[in-house]
Amino acid sequence: MRGQRAHRVTTAHLQAAYPFVAEGGLGGRGAFIGKDLFGGSFTYDAFELYEHGVITSPNMVVAGQLGRGKSALVKTLCLREQVFGRRVVVMDPKGEYAQLASFCDTKVIGLRPRGRLRLNPLDDRIAREDQLRLLHAISAAALERSLRPQEKTALERALEQAGQGRGEPTLPKVVDALLNPSDEAATAISADRRAWVGWGREVAFELRRLVTGDLKGMFDGKTSRSIDLGADMVVLDLSAVYDSDALGILMTCAAAWLQGVLAESTTRKTIFVLDEAWAILSNLGIAKWLQASFKLSRARGLQNIAVMHRFSDLSATGSQGSQQERVARGLLSDTETRVVYAQPHSEVKATCDLLGLTETEAALLPQLERGVALWKVGERSFLVWHLLGETERALIDTDSRMIQPRLAGVT
Ligand SMILES: Nc1ncnc2c1ncn2[C@@H]1O[C@H](COP(=O)(O)OP(=O)(O)O)[C@@H](O)[C@H]1O
Ligand SMILES: [Mg+2]
Repeated sequence: MRGQRAHRVTTAHLQAAYPFVAEGGLGGRGAFIGKDLFGGSFTYDAFELYEHGVITSPNMVVAGQLGRGKSALVKTLCLREQVFGRRVVVMDPKGEYAQLASFCDTKVIGLRPRGRLRLNPLDDRIAREDQLRLLHAISAAALERSLRPQEKTALERALEQAGQGRGEPTLPKVVDALLNPSDEAATAISADRRAWVGWGREVAFELRRLVTGDLKGMFDGKTSRSIDLGADMVVLDLSAVYDSDALGILMTCAAAWLQGVLAESTTRKTIFVLDEAWAILSNLGIAKWLQASFKLSRARGLQNIAVMHRFSDLSATGSQGSQQERVARGLLSDTETRVVYAQPHSEVKATCDLLGLTETEAALLPQLERGVALWKVGERSFLVWHLLGETERALIDTDSRMIQPRLAGVT
C-alpha cells in the first residue's frame, strides 16, 4: 500500500487501555475480549482461528438491541487488534469513532454532500468487475427492484463507454453514457440507440441523485488526493447523511470504494467494520452486494464485521421476502462468528431459526445484560462478558457523547 505509515499503537499504549492478560476459551493468540462466563478469559482473532482451521470464514456478525455494547465491543476489538498488526477500516454512520481514531492518531475521513472530500466508486484502482457489481447493486437498491437483463447490459456498456477517452470512469460519465450512448456502443449489442436509451433511462434517473441531486459531491468525481489509506486505522464518517433515506446506498458506495482500493494490497490482514449495517441489509439490492463481498473476504485477507440490531434485519417480509431470506442465509453461511447480545422475546425465534441455537441459548437471549453476549464461533458456543479498561471506557462511551457535537474531530 502506498502512503505514509501512520503512528502504530504500542503495546505500552495498549496496556494502559486494557490491563488484562490474553489466553482463554478459544486458545492461541488473539485479542483479549473479556471473561468467558464458564471459566477463563476469552480471546479472539479471526485470522488466527482461520489459519488453525477453527473457522473456515473470517467474517463476523454482531447483533443486539440498542445500547447493549455492540459498538463498544467492535471499538475495543479495533484497538486491541492493532497489537497483532491488523489494519482496521471502519464505516461509521453515526460519527462515534472519532475518539478512538484520535487515540490511535488517525484522522477521520468525513464525507458529506458538497463537502471537501470525494470518493470515486469507479476509481481506476478498482477492478472493472467490482465497479460493475457496485453499479448493479446501487441501481437495484435505488429502483427497489431487481434489474432487468437489458438494464444490466446498458450499465455494462455505459461503464465501458465512461472508461474510454480521458480520465477514469465516474458516476456522472456513466449517467451521461446511459442517456447518450455512442453509436458504436449500441451497434456492439445489436440495438439501435433509441432502444438502448430506453433500457437505461430509469437507472440513469435514479443514479442522477448521486450526481446532481441532494447527495451531490460525495461519489461523483475523482477521489480526493488527500485521502490516505496507508494508516493502521481508517475511519470513514458518514454521519452527515445518517438521516438520509439513501444511507444504505451511500454506505455501499463508500464500502465498495474502500474494499476495491484496499484489494490492491493483499499483504495486510484487514478488519472491515460496517457499524449500523442494517442500513445496507434492509435493501435487497445492496444486501446482495454485501453477501458477495462476504464471499470474497477470504481471498482478500479481509474480515468483515457487520453490526446490526436483530437478525430479522436480514430477512425482510413482503414480496422480496424469500429472496431476502436467501441472501440472509448466504451471508450467514460466510459468517462463522456470530455475536449475539440481548434480543427481545419477539426476535428470539428468527434468531434461533437463522443461527440454529439450542433451547437453552434461546432462553438466555432476552436476559443477557449489557456487555454480555453469546458468541458462536464455528461449532462452538461461549458466553462472554466484554471487559473494558479505564482508558477504553472514555473511547467507547456513546451515552455521554450524545451531548457532544456529532461531528467532533472530523476533518
Ligand atoms: N462491556 C461493557 N461494560 C460496561 N459498559 C458497557 C459495555 N459495553 C458498552 N457499555 C456502555 O454502554 C453504552 C452503549 O454501548 P454501545 O456499544 O454504544 O451500544 P450499541 O452499539 O449496542 O448500541 C456505552 O456508552 C458504554 O458506556
Ligand atoms: Mg452502536
